Amino acid sequence: MRIMDYDIKTTDLADVGKQRIDWANRFMPVLTSIRERFATEQPLQGIKVAACLHVTTETANLMQTLKAGGAELALCASNPLSTQDDVSASLVVNDEIAVFAINGEDTETYYKHIHAALATQSNITMDDGADLVSQLHSEETNPALVEQVIAGTEETTTGVIRLKSMAAEGVLKYPIIAVNDANTKHFFDNRYGTGQSTLDGIIRATNLLIAGTTVVVAGYGWCGRGVASRARGLGANVIVTEVTALKALEAVMDGFRVMPMQKAVQEGDLVITLTGDIHVLRKEHFEAMKDGTIIANSGHFNVEIDIPALEELAVEKSVAREYVESYTLADGRTLYLIGEGRLVNLASAEGHPASVMDMSFANQALSLEYIAKNQQKLENQVYDVPEAIDEEVARLKLAAFGVEIDTLTEEQEKYLNSWEMGT
Ligand code: NAI
Repeated sequence: MRIMDYDIKTTDLADVGKQRIDWANRFMPVLTSIRERFATEQPLQGIKVAACLHVTTETANLMQTLKAGGAELALCASNPLSTQDDVSASLVVNDEIAVFAINGEDTETYYKHIHAALATQSNITMDDGADLVSQLHSEETNPALVEQVIAGTEETTTGVIRLKSMAAEGVLKYPIIAVNDANTKHFFDNRYGTGQSTLDGIIRATNLLIAGTTVVVAGYGWCGRGVASRARGLGANVIVTEVTALKALEAVMDGFRVMPMQKAVQEGDLVITLTGDIHVLRKEHFEAMKDGTIIANSGHFNVEIDIPALEELAVEKSVAREYVESYTLADGRTLYLIGEGRLVNLASAEGHPASVMDMSFANQALSLEYIAKNQQKLENQVYDVPEAIDEEVARLKLAAFGVEIDTLTEEQEKYLNSWEMGT
């Protein structure tokens, strides 16, 4: 094996990791077809990539694809709890990819690992929550490191919001492609991926029967819609909370009850936040919750639930079972928090199923190829994924499902593009 720097829990789990990475690959036909083309065309030859993503089996398949395209890679975690140590082991041992990630690492190690990935002097950054960009823009980081970056990509809603505000203030030092905003990403990953895996994480952590419970979903964006519809499918009575009238109206017309959080928590057995906002659940909500309420977050950062306020209210805290902490309040009620308020689908489950990450990561791989080919044209802004890439990913995914669709006839094409043709 080539001598390289890495920091992982153990290399002993490499075989288990490889088996699981190969299993995920079975459900990632779009990425596989890109990998095959990359292996011949080498679009990323000579490019160093630093990736800060959840270290999962799907990410491993993305790393292999970029490597097949000629990239040199360093991978660190975008969340301390989502790292799968067997995956890190396999990437280091079987793919010779530099990984800096250990499941459960403390904050200091988490940032040490981010800096280790950046120290590889990358030309492209791949973020899930803008951590690499933030560190590269911070004053403590060596300014020479940012100078060699040609562009970056961003995987999630929260990261895109931050990067757009950096661009608006004129402080963004290199171009970013907002992979999250590709239709073939958020229509599917955020909705169906988060929808299923959030409930999967909650069920694995608690073994809760969802049928017959009242589930409160905070936020009716892409992720919230997915969770609300899946919870209803499992037999829950779902209440939605929102701050945007349009989204709230959509939830009402989709058949959900909508009310303020203060009222919703009085009914909820399970309360899930997916807003990208801060302190969506706070002191006054904890005070109004029923005894035994289960609380989880699936938004990007662990700030949606005001955990310090919960800690302050609690007279006793203990571990109820793996991934579940119980907080007993002064009046004897107990509230249960899953996965320390971090992304529950990654903390207590395996994140999104591979089939949906296939599309998100196909967008990532094709965006990196686009950056390599168009670097001279890009300015320090946040760009959408080019429409052609989005369409290509949808076309490849449909083909993988074996689904064919109609094409416009000449007459239809003309009709749809003209205003003179009437009835
Ligand atoms: P979105 O922007 O489509 O939806 C967020 C919704 O939350 C909006 O409708 C907004 O009006 C609402 N909202 C904001 N503050 C609120 C409050 N105080 N109370 C109630 N509603 C409120 O965003 P999207 O794509 O649904 O993402 C949500 C979060 O989930 C982001 O942090 C994103 O990064 C994260 N995410 C998590 C994933 C996971 O694997 N768990 C996957 C993809 C995204």
